[in-house]
Amino acid sequence: MRSHYCGEITETLADQTVTFCGWVHRRRDHGGVIFLDVRDREGLVQTVFDPDTVEAFNTANGVRSEYVVQITGLVRLRPQGATNDNMTTGKIEILGKEITVLNKAATPPFPLDDYSPVGEDVRLKYRYMDLRRDEMQRNLRFRHKVSTQVRNYLDQNGFLDLETPILTRATPEGARDYLVPSRTHQGSFFALPQSPQLFKQLLMVSGFDRYYQIAKCFRDEDLRADRQPEFTQIDIEASFITEEQIMSITENMIKEIFKDQMNVDLGEIPHMPYAEAMNRFGSDKPDLRIDMELVDIADLLQDIEFKVFAGPAKDPKGRVAALKVPGGAKLSRKDIDAYTKYVSIYGAKGLAWIKVNELEKGVEGLQSPIIKFIGEENTLKIMERLGVENGDIVFFGADKAKIVNEAIGALRIKLGIDLELLTKEWAPLWVVDFPMFEELDGGGLTAIHHPFTAPACSPEELKANPATALSQAYDLVLNGCELGGGSLRIHDQAMQKTVFEILNISEEEQQEKFGFLLDALQFGAPPHGGLAFGLDRLIMLMVGADSIREVIAFPKTQSAGCVMTDAPGLVTTKQLREVGVQLRVQEKDKAE
Ligand code: AMO
Ligand code: AMP
Repeated sequence: MRSHYCGEITETLADQTVTFCGWVHRRRDHGGVIFLDVRDREGLVQTVFDPDTVEAFNTANGVRSEYVVQITGLVRLRPQGATNDNMTTGKIEILGKEITVLNKAATPPFPLDDYSPVGEDVRLKYRYMDLRRDEMQRNLRFRHKVSTQVRNYLDQNGFLDLETPILTRATPEGARDYLVPSRTHQGSFFALPQSPQLFKQLLMVSGFDRYYQIAKCFRDEDLRADRQPEFTQIDIEASFITEEQIMSITENMIKEIFKDQMNVDLGEIPHMPYAEAMNRFGSDKPDLRIDMELVDIADLLQDIEFKVFAGPAKDPKGRVAALKVPGGAKLSRKDIDAYTKYVSIYGAKGLAWIKVNELEKGVEGLQSPIIKFIGEENTLKIMERLGVENGDIVFFGADKAKIVNEAIGALRIKLGIDLELLTKEWAPLWVVDFPMFEELDGGGLTAIHHPFTAPACSPEELKANPATALSQAYDLVLNGCELGGGSLRIHDQAMQKTVFEILNISEEEQQEKFGFLLDALQFGAPPHGGLAFGLDRLIMLMVGADSIREVIAFPKTQSAGCVMTDAPGLVTTKQLREVGVQLRVQEKDKAE
């Protein structure tokens, strides 16, 4: 139906006749001539109809925004002064000879230029219209280019693209499962995979050696800007490979993608042990674009009267940390109150501070509500440890280590952004030496990565000190976002059973849930390991979007629904009966 895409028509085609199809982006009436900007995937082209071509002029006069048209016309250079250097088609325009309206369009629910603010709910309800916008077209095309490069890279490195089931059993990755009732096994349910974890391990047992899949994963968890209930992983697994090798292969992939798609050189990616990351940044995914660090000061405050600090300073599970913020003394009382409120989200009970006005005057030159509580000598020691300068502010957190890390870690990032303290554009980091387990609030242990992660010690050592044992797991962090994570896996049945025992999974439950894995481990499972990147997160970071919803064609809302299709929807009583499900609350059955 066309000779060219709109966006391809440039001055090289001057004086030629072209035919193109697309949507009417804008229609303007300029004193007797009609201008139509016509848009397709590749861009916009300006078309002029003058009254001499009567029929075409009349049709052009009648079209409205988003009508679908086919136009044939003559390419001509725009007069001097009328060119537009921002468009590939900016040096030409089309003198329209024929126009066919292929379809009409109702008035769009919102203007399609990038400058009109539109609520996200409306954008998602009419997502097919939203996706016509230039920004969304660019994001999704970029996503295609990255996933194509991923496929090429992994293919060239010997990874086979193999599919794994969507209707399966629970794969524990720490979230709730999406369940699908079975009609043929009434009372039983499939779970949608939280990841292809166990299947990719079984493919290693089968000898495929290197596997990858751009895989849909499903997790029923609280949603945030970087989480969707249904998301995409670049999922990778390999046999006979070391931790270093798997990290190096996947690191090169990410580096090549940044280089080829954005001309960004990520450089050598540093490694940092988990314990160091928690200590210095209060986070296992530290944003290293920000230079500030948490500094421990508990040793100075154990004997003071002020219980708020002395309590956590003496508690082995407590932490007292200080954060020096360069130039932060300019923060007002109101600002500090707002940050105090911010840290309270993470459970902090307060946010003590000291402003450094004139350091040369000693404590006289400091301003703070807490110097009287911690004492002048301690205050000066803290200032010395932090290496403060005039104009700085120091914030303090004192509580259980978990709360201090989360609260002051989050404050560090918020201040870094608010006060424009970012020192670089890209800061990638491998976090390594994760512990195997973390303590649950109500007691007991849970796997930090997943229960198939290999420990860095023997089963006996693991049993003796599970809470402090380290794993062979690694995460790739970029700008404070967990881009991917993986580990070497347990390939030995006894070790796998030990981990299940530590996690308090009974022999019966082990057999019921993971019997197939335990069986497979007996039949010559090779040493293996892998990793999965969040594709949505990678694209979000690369295009600079605020949310992964901006890089997913049809995402879910914050409440895990789809406002366009109205999913999840009601089903008929007959359908429920077929799958053997009875609702506890019999809603008015709209669907029947
Ligand atoms: P993990 O659970 O760390 O590991 O997931 C891997 C990566 O997937 C992305 N991700 C998400 N992206 C969007 N929305 C979500 N709800 C979401 N959850 C996770 C993150 C994360 O780093 N099977 C293991 C991998 C392995 O061990 O090989 C796994 O799934 O970017
Ligand atoms: P208070 O005596 O509770 O008014 O606290 C004195 C100062 O310490 C105030 O600036 C509080 O914000 C701060 N503060 C209180 N609890 C904590 C805490 N757990 N960590 C850090 N600062 C705190």
